[in-house]
Amino acid sequence: MKKEKHSEYEISKIGNYSHGQLFKWIWSDYLKKYKLLIILVVLLMAVEGSTFGLLSYFIEPMFDQVFAKGDYGAIKWVGFSVAGIFILRAFSAFFNKLITTYIGQNVIATLQKNLLSHLLTFNPTFFQKNSPGSLIERVRGDTAAIERVWATVLAGSFRDLIAVFSLVIVAISIDPIWALIALLGAPLLVIPVFFLRVLIQKTTRNSRSAAADVATRLDEIFHGISSIKLISGEQREYNKFSNRLEKFVKNSIFSEAGIAAVPSLMDIIAGIGFVGVLTYGGYQIIEGTKTIGEFMSFFTAIALLFEPVRRLGTIAGAWHAVFTNLERLRNIFDLSTEIISPEKNNSKKADFTQIIAFENLSLTINEKKILDNVSFSAFPGKTTALVGPSGAGKTTLFNLLGRLIDPDQGNISIGDIAINQMDLNDLRENLSFVSQDSWLFDESIEENIKVGNPNASQAEFQDAVLAANAHDFIEEMPKKEKTPVGPRGSNLSGGQRQRIAIARAILRDTPILLLDEPTSALDNEAEKQIQNALSSLSEGRTTLIIAHNISAIKNANKIIVLNSGKIVGQGKHDELLLNCSVYQSLYQMENS
Ligand SMILES: Nc1ncnc2c1ncn2[C@@H]1O[C@H](COP(=O)(O)OP(=O)(O)O)[C@@H](O)[C@H]1O
Ligand SMILES: [Mg+2]
Repeated sequence: MKKEKHSEYEISKIGNYSHGQLFKWIWSDYLKKYKLLIILVVLLMAVEGSTFGLLSYFIEPMFDQVFAKGDYGAIKWVGFSVAGIFILRAFSAFFNKLITTYIGQNVIATLQKNLLSHLLTFNPTFFQKNSPGSLIERVRGDTAAIERVWATVLAGSFRDLIAVFSLVIVAISIDPIWALIALLGAPLLVIPVFFLRVLIQKTTRNSRSAAADVATRLDEIFHGISSIKLISGEQREYNKFSNRLEKFVKNSIFSEAGIAAVPSLMDIIAGIGFVGVLTYGGYQIIEGTKTIGEFMSFFTAIALLFEPVRRLGTIAGAWHAVFTNLERLRNIFDLSTEIISPEKNNSKKADFTQIIAFENLSLTINEKKILDNVSFSAFPGKTTALVGPSGAGKTTLFNLLGRLIDPDQGNISIGDIAINQMDLNDLRENLSFVSQDSWLFDESIEENIKVGNPNASQAEFQDAVLAANAHDFIEEMPKKEKTPVGPRGSNLSGGQRQRIAIARAILRDTPILLLDEPTSALDNEAEKQIQNALSSLSEGRTTLIIAHNISAIKNANKIIVLNSGKIVGQGKHDELLLNCSVYQSLYQMENS
């Protein structure tokens, strides 16, 4: 049962959809509200499409009335009619393009926004299972692929259909037998088109997943560039990248080839048809039963038929490509997070200044027991420290309190209220985290500090900076607190980043404070200074602190010793030194 819970996040394991289902989804959620515009655009397409037929129709009087008969009067009406057709086509084509682009871009943007807001509800486990690169590729790449096909193929398909229809009518009206000969080969297309469909589907899916791999590699390379250089891994990374890229190229080529093969087959069939018509029709013209104008008109109709038919030929393939992409998107929407707020009126208001009780917490991930029946309390306004070897489960306890993950058994309550009965935002707004690797945004120092409390006054901001001992280094920055910190804070040292995170927590001013090795990135000197800031910060707040060295938490009101997911001791420093062997060895290691 537990295993099931965690595999819910694997996008690839989600079911398949029929084209009808996907179309219904896109229509009702995205396209329906453009109903009127779509009707308008269909009408415009009908106008634009029928100009093809009209054009070929006017070739006949041009040859027979003007050229052959020498009728001066006909020059005027044929000329004006043809000009009118071109003007009609100009306007309808322009507004067509405008409206379809408007609809296409808006639908894709809405799709991307919905995807992101859905992805934002997922808990961190999802993002551990699915790499950032592959997710970026889904949000950006898959939607872009749909937009491309929409703009180049689908949006014009109705116009092409009407064009083909009107041209075929002109052709038949001139001579149904000629038309029959010209189009005789068409049924032969069915079999190759069927096989091509299978090829397109498979290669499109492969090329999208290879694109995701490529994005993942880039993401990893750019994030890990220092580590890659230090292990001389450039060549290895380059090779991995180029392998994935080659797979992408190969599949894209096959996919495009499949899509392009259909119109080419049509060309071949059309070419054969033309020879037939010329042979048969040529005799009739020589014998005088048909006019040159009729033949030219017919020829123009067939020639004009090529382009729209070729484009229509790509539609089947394009639809398949689009549905493959739609399915990948739909699969994300089908996933749902299990960490949710209770219904609005069912959620309970907690008093966050009350005791925090961790009760019988157990958690297993991938068959590994991370926490085993852990129970303890953190008293209001007091500092509770968590110590233990790396991997003992300390950070996991913080994640449970912030509901980044839920336990398999047991629960956490504040006052009398279990945290899963509280509104999720309400809970998180009352916690401040300072962690080993606090996240900085690619914005200015000031924005990064104010992120937890955007309404803070300038005076409060300055106080927080001073208390976090961040004032001096900020003053030395080229633009002071307006200095951008770079991606993930890469323009700052680890200690500077940590002080910004501390200032952020000070400014946030919440009743509960969670410190996860808050001074791990600092040198001794800076650590001492921060220690003061932290102890004044934790005053009057329920503080939980994870420390990598015991000297930092010696004075805590209570110390919990964790080892392999179990509590192996709790009490004050002096008591633990006497009766907890894990604590003793941690202490000895530090002081040897
Ligand atoms: N999301 C996760 N998926 C799989 N294993 C995890 C996850 N989070 C933590 N762990 C594992 O749980 C154990 C405890 O991790 P953690 O709480 O971070 O330890 P620490 O005491 O060092 O803070 C580790 O063995 C870690 O590998
Ligand atoms: Mg940890």
